[in-house]
Amino acid sequence: MPSISYSANERAAEATELSQKLALPINNTDDVQLCALEDKWALKLNGMQPIWVDFNISHWRKGKYSCKNEALVKACKAKEGVNILDLTAGFGRDAAILLGTGASVSLVERDKIMQILLQDGLARADLKLKAKIRLINSEAKEVLTKLNKANLPEVIYLDPMHPIRKKSAQVKKVMFALQTFIKPDDNYTDLLTLARRCARERVVVKCPVTQPPVCIPNHSIGGKTIRFDVYLADGGNGNADGNVIGIELR
Ligand SMILES: C[S@@+](CC[C@H](N)C(=O)[O-])C[C@H]1O[C@@H](n2cnc3c(N)ncnc32)[C@H](O)[C@@H]1O
Repeated sequence: MPSISYSANERAAEATELSQKLALPINNTDDVQLCALEDKWALKLNGMQPIWVDFNISHWRKGKYSCKNEALVKACKAKEGVNILDLTAGFGRDAAILLGTGASVSLVERDKIMQILLQDGLARADLKLKAKIRLINSEAKEVLTKLNKANLPEVIYLDPMHPIRKKSAQVKKVMFALQTFIKPDDNYTDLLTLARRCARERVVVKCPVTQPPVCIPNHSIGGKTIRFDVYLADGGNGNADGNVIGIELR
């Protein structure tokens, strides 16, 4: 697990409080740190630039990310008025791209460190974006089994932790950072099955092109390194228990 650290002295007290809350040590020299910078929390890894959550789309729209962004938006058919449930929030980068289309995104995250980074990113998001974001600190399956059946999302998005084979490219550094303390999701077939029952329209799974899909998708939208597998909804009737009262996404 990361240590808690601070690079700005005025945040020492806050860092200490968080270290007590999470029962993690304060260590400003550890290889992996959840670090209080001057104005934000960030994940710091030895020899890497700090990484933080930024829901501001302009950051992710540029350069080498643009092709991947286009494929993600196409696969999710994201646009104003569409509700997307992102079951694997991470640094919220994919969610930021989806939010950039005007869609509303509910983000589910089970890891405590990532939850803090996401909460911090939300606090820095502008008001218009804030209204479209909902953070849910939970295990994905639990959320799916408690969704309000009357208010199911059109799209459910999954970007599980795939094992990394090479860690050379910049885009993979983020994944490398996560894998220092988050285990890969070896089997998410059950989660996908449940998600297909809960989505009104589709479930989209992000996958490295080097890996086969967990089950055969209806179609895929591919790039050079990443593929988006699209699974059409299986009835869109909600979870097995058919909750009428449950978690509201908006
Ligand atoms: C590959 S990362 C997602 C990266 C994210 N798409 C982004 O753009 O930053 C996977 C994240 O999902 C979380 N996660 C994986 N399985 C989960 C589950 N079953 N329930 C909730 N969160 C999960 C992990 O803790 C990790 O933060």
